[in-house]
Amino acid sequence: MQSITPYPHMLHGCDYNPEQWRNRPEILDQDIIRMQQANINCASLGIFAWAALEPEEGRYDLDWLEEIMNRLHQRGIYTVLATPSAASPMWLAHKYPETRRVGADRIRILPGGRHNHCYTSPVYREKVRAVNEQLAARFAHHPGLILWHVGNEFQGECHCELCQAAFREWLRERYGTLDALNAAWWTAFWSNTYTDWEQIESPAPHGETAIHGLNLDWKRFCTAQTRSFLDAEIAVLKAANPVIPVTTNFMGFYDGLNYREIAKSLDVISWDSYPLWHSEQSGDESSSAFRADAFSDMCRCMLGKPFLLMENTPSQTNWQPVCRPKTWGFHRLTAVSCLAHGADSVQYFQWRQSRGCAEKFHGAVMTHANRTDTRVFQEVSDLGSTLKRLDALCGAKTVANIAILYDMESHWAVNDAKGPRNQGIGDTDLMLRFYLPFWKAGYAVDFVDAEADFSGYHLLCVPMLYLLRGDTAKRIRDFTLQGGTVILTMHSGVTDAHDLCYMGDTPAEGLAELAGIRFLEIDPLFDGQTETMHIQKAPFPLAESYRLERLCERVAAEGAEVLGVYDTGNPCMPDDLPCLTRHPFGRGTAYYLGGFAEERFFSDFLISLAERLGLLPALDTTLPHGVTAAARQGKDGTVFYFVMNWNREQKSVNLPFPLKDFETGKFYQSKLPLSPYGAKILIR
Ligand code: GAL
Repeated sequence: MQSITPYPHMLHGCDYNPEQWRNRPEILDQDIIRMQQANINCASLGIFAWAALEPEEGRYDLDWLEEIMNRLHQRGIYTVLATPSAASPMWLAHKYPETRRVGADRIRILPGGRHNHCYTSPVYREKVRAVNEQLAARFAHHPGLILWHVGNEFQGECHCELCQAAFREWLRERYGTLDALNAAWWTAFWSNTYTDWEQIESPAPHGETAIHGLNLDWKRFCTAQTRSFLDAEIAVLKAANPVIPVTTNFMGFYDGLNYREIAKSLDVISWDSYPLWHSEQSGDESSSAFRADAFSDMCRCMLGKPFLLMENTPSQTNWQPVCRPKTWGFHRLTAVSCLAHGADSVQYFQWRQSRGCAEKFHGAVMTHANRTDTRVFQEVSDLGSTLKRLDALCGAKTVANIAILYDMESHWAVNDAKGPRNQGIGDTDLMLRFYLPFWKAGYAVDFVDAEADFSGYHLLCVPMLYLLRGDTAKRIRDFTLQGGTVILTMHSGVTDAHDLCYMGDTPAEGLAELAGIRFLEIDPLFDGQTETMHIQKAPFPLAESYRLERLCERVAAEGAEVLGVYDTGNPCMPDDLPCLTRHPFGRGTAYYLGGFAEERFFSDFLISLAERLGLLPALDTTLPHGVTAAARQGKDGTVFYFVMNWNREQKSVNLPFPLKDFETGKFYQSKLPLSPYGAKILIR
């Protein structure tokens, strides 16, 4: 696999905002020398810098940027150059009020802040095009440029009249006729039949919220509109030099956009990781770490290649409820874990703390003290020297036999559904329950969406695929027919692409037949209420029973073998309704889980199943609690093993084969000692 930027090395970089320091030339001089000392090899420039690049309409000032890029490049520091579109400058927002975003409440925001613009506005698009053209003309062939960073963290939506008109146009293209739209949206309900396209308005707290088809299409439209804005930006950059790749940074499990769609426009995926660290008195950081690693794995899978960790903090994140700095040595652990899950970079927000405004207390490599003899500077610099030696890891791939299907459209729909559980349906939590045991045991997991090709996997986990569209069901069936093992769960195959309930037996589209079960009813539980699943026939070692919460789906077994049954604790209910089943299908097997089981069930069940299927984790050993492992295979064939200790205590791992510490050269024959919050990079 090629490296993901033209600079074929691991990136170690930072957001750098020299525009905030233009009246302090001595600071700018220091910065470049100190970046070198910190082993920084790239800087992200120009994010939110529009006011400095175009101080007044049509008057551009790019000289300062060119000077910085030149000076960085002379010292071996490459530029990730942003387009400034993520924050409208004051002059623009004042002069062109129609470019300012309008909320769902139909109130137009005042100038200021960031992410403050409409994605539809022709004026805003034109102003962005013009400034991007200037940047592209000047820098697209600059020897220091390795990547375009388009905007920053695309997010939010605009409900202005321009967006309403664009939405109606988008709907016309999608449906052709109002009759088709009315049918798809089931608008005979509550007399909501549209008789003119002009009557259609985006969802609003003081207007329409009950038409689920409308809500879903509005979300799809917001993604499409954001993508078309992004595409317009990219077109200008690529026209100047098609070779330089483009990215934009994602925000973890943000669900305002379908990132899978946005990814189709990008050459490189990048994301900004800000977990809440050190909130556990015990010092065990696993619960934050596994979510971050899950999103890293999602990023790795979006384009099937490594991604960039575009932002993380070297110390504290100042917008969290309590902003604890990463404790001594912890930064290295978080960084190594990101590499382990597919990152080809470690980049910071930011290089230097601002003196004023909302981020003045955010962690940075250089603090207000302006010294290099700080712990954080030293840790950053040490990590940089490790990254310098990791060329062979650059572009390295992850080989996964297990996939988890997580589909944004289904996520949107199931959370909008009104019932069966409006205080948290828990689809994302359920997905993470599938991920957690694999993460703990060191199995590589890919994340796929409903449109993916499942054929290369051995085990496909399909948690709560509520909205089932296109030929997904057929592909799941084919996967199983051809020998794959699939796990379906409660509340799947319920609605179609318009979020209209399927008629007939569900899970629909042949998934009931695949699982050998048929839906009877779903019983949601209040927080704190539980039921029990008793295991009747364990296909492999399982506990006698498991706690269930949130959702209990009752089904009839129609061909499936019943492995576990409900104990509802309710004398009015039969106590042998199937909760866990298995059904051979073609050359494969389909499991079905009806109840939202406790974590312990997933670790017992999934790891035993993976072993039964002959799947191997990165290290075939039992890892101590809070110790994780992962592997990546470099292009020269070198396999890198990563072992992370998320505990504040020392741990030791029994190695299945001897490994060499990649950094120190020390050999470990059978036992690998790990310091508190330690992380090791090893090779065979
Ligand atoms: C990110 C953003 C950065 C900075 C950072 C602070 O979401 O992209 O510009 O604000 O958060 O944590």
